[in-house]
Amino acid sequence: MNKPIRKAVLPVAGLGTRFLPATKAVPKEMLTVVDRPALQHVVEEAREAGIEHFVFVTGRNKSVIEDHFDMAYELEDTLKRRGKEKEFAALMADLPKAGATSFTRQQAPLGLGHAVWCARDIVGDEPFAVLLPDMITMGSKTRQSRCLAQCVAAYERHGGNIIAVEEVPWEETHQYGIVSVGRDYGDTFEITGMVEKPPKGTAPSNLYITGRYILLPEIFAILDKGETGAGGEIQLTDGMIKLMAQAPFHGVRFDGRTYDCGMKLGFLTANVAFALARPDIAPPLREELKRLLGTN
Ligand code: G1P
Repeated sequence: MNKPIRKAVLPVAGLGTRFLPATKAVPKEMLTVVDRPALQHVVEEAREAGIEHFVFVTGRNKSVIEDHFDMAYELEDTLKRRGKEKEFAALMADLPKAGATSFTRQQAPLGLGHAVWCARDIVGDEPFAVLLPDMITMGSKTRQSRCLAQCVAAYERHGGNIIAVEEVPWEETHQYGIVSVGRDYGDTFEITGMVEKPPKGTAPSNLYITGRYILLPEIFAILDKGETGAGGEIQLTDGMIKLMAQAPFHGVRFDGRTYDCGMKLGFLTANVAFALARPDIAPPLREELKRLLGTN
């Protein structure tokens, strides 16, 4: 039996420079997608996949994230006294259990591999998930489950390490981590190679790493060496390439869509897509969109 995946690492130390001035005083992970911070969507996805403990790797000016996942006594008390039971219940439903969150700081922006390595003591010696909070996922109409739940299902089947991928236009492959496909099972496949941000025209496939991983704890000893790669950063992809020599990696073709909220277009599209999935907002929003697009 494979060990269960109980813990998730969420690297949230990034500066959000692509979203200035919005991110001058507000962490980019706290920008709202419909009516909740982007990061909360990601935590919900992790919970849906059975994650019990959330390890946030934060940085300076990110303390509001810690507050968001804590009780807010005055607010809750006021809501209760004003009879706003629905709002109160919604806050309570979203609150992680006491002791289910940990916060550690990445002291310098040395790369994603370094951010994950910062969580080593909290994760300990067990397989764990990594969710990049810039990426927000929505399951397809048929599958519904979001990306991490599909990764956990693949882990139960294959064991070892799992990476979620999606197709990207070939001309965008240089912006991402790209995998090579070995034995193919359709929804999952053996990964035979990976490359971080391959120069244009050299990508081995157009399947990009979307930011959902299940990793064996052996990755920490590899990241410990602090070797730098693409962009002079300690890359998670490079650490995983080394881990491939010791343990299998499988890819999951995510049945759904990933929105790259690190980009303005992805962020705006995610807002529209998530709003259109909400029965309370979708009908009037559809009318507004038609008006804006001049088709009404
Ligand atoms: C990181 C990963 C990359 C992955 C991407 C997804 O890159 O290193 O492999 O494809 O996230 O967003 P970054 O976006 O931090 O440059």
